[in-house]
Amino acid sequence: MKTKISEYLEEIKALEVKSAEQLEGFRVKFLGKKGLLNDLFEDFKKVAPEERKEMGQLLNSLKTSVQERLNELKEMVESTGGSDEPSLDLTMPVNFSRLGTRHPISIVRNQIVDIFLKMGFSVAEGPEIEDDWHNFSALNFPPEHPARDMQDTFFVEHHPVRGDLALRTHTSSVQVRVMESGQPPIRQIFPGRVYRNEAISARAHCMFHQVEGLYIDKGVSFADLKQALLIFAREMFGPETQIRLRPSYFPFTEPSAEMDISCLICGGEGCNICKHTGWVEVLGCGMVDPNVLRNCNIDPEIYTGYAFGIGIERMTMVKYRINDLRLYFENDLRFLEQFESVY
Ligand code: PHE
Repeated sequence: MKTKISEYLEEIKALEVKSAEQLEGFRVKFLGKKGLLNDLFEDFKKVAPEERKEMGQLLNSLKTSVQERLNELKEMVESTGGSDEPSLDLTMPVNFSRLGTRHPISIVRNQIVDIFLKMGFSVAEGPEIEDDWHNFSALNFPPEHPARDMQDTFFVEHHPVRGDLALRTHTSSVQVRVMESGQPPIRQIFPGRVYRNEAISARAHCMFHQVEGLYIDKGVSFADLKQALLIFAREMFGPETQIRLRPSYFPFTEPSAEMDISCLICGGEGCNICKHTGWVEVLGCGMVDPNVLRNCNIDPEIYTGYAFGIGIERMTMVKYRINDLRLYFENDLRFLEQFESVY
């Protein structure tokens, strides 16, 4: 009887069950009416009186061990689900499925917009197919200006009504639309897509993105522009970032400048992205030309203002160390999947 007890103990310890049915089988085998333990209790009746005490204890502790082990197995089966099916546990954390990743251009556009929203700007948009007036004439482009040339601009041909439509070459066209439709103060940004007839290479593309900014009020000065851009650059790239304004020319601003930021990638020592200069050009800017204000029915004797146009691809290049513009638009998942996930 002793050997049976220790055999059963071994057996119950080694038991493994996969399903509730199997577990029930073991329960019947050990604890059922005709089960092994009942057999033992029958045998117990025949045990000699001197051995009764010891056997009784052994038998009782076997019974407890069997019950404990079966309870343990029962919990296991319940947590992994009986009958081989995974169970539904409503307290488990939700398994979010990933919808995709945000495009790096969208990430950086959103960051740019957020920074200017904090500075009191609001967002507006304009059409991608523009007329000559909004894209060029109102912005003080002389009729013979090279930017109007077939080389740079995608013109819309064979339009039934208008012969002066083109894909906008910059978001500055939205400046005109906004100034025409209301009087200052104006403090807005215009994110959007622009098009230029350029051969596609690592450094140029026929389609890219800008965020235009426009601030017009009484007494707006170049110092205000510089300060806004410095705050923007440091919010965007960190407090160590330096900016540099270089004199430039745009028909619609006077004076005009281009802004560089100190190259974050090499820290100014010179690398591929900054073409070994330590600086990366990221935007054009200037004081809105009085001719442009006049074209849009704003009195330049009363109001002044600044404008800027940020190249989103350039900003993204610096932010994520991307050295080829074509990567943005080839839709290669190996590139896209490296950016912020969307759930
Ligand atoms: N529109 C200019 C460009 O596309 C940028 C710019 C915007 C310059 C506003 C000055 C003011 O290059």
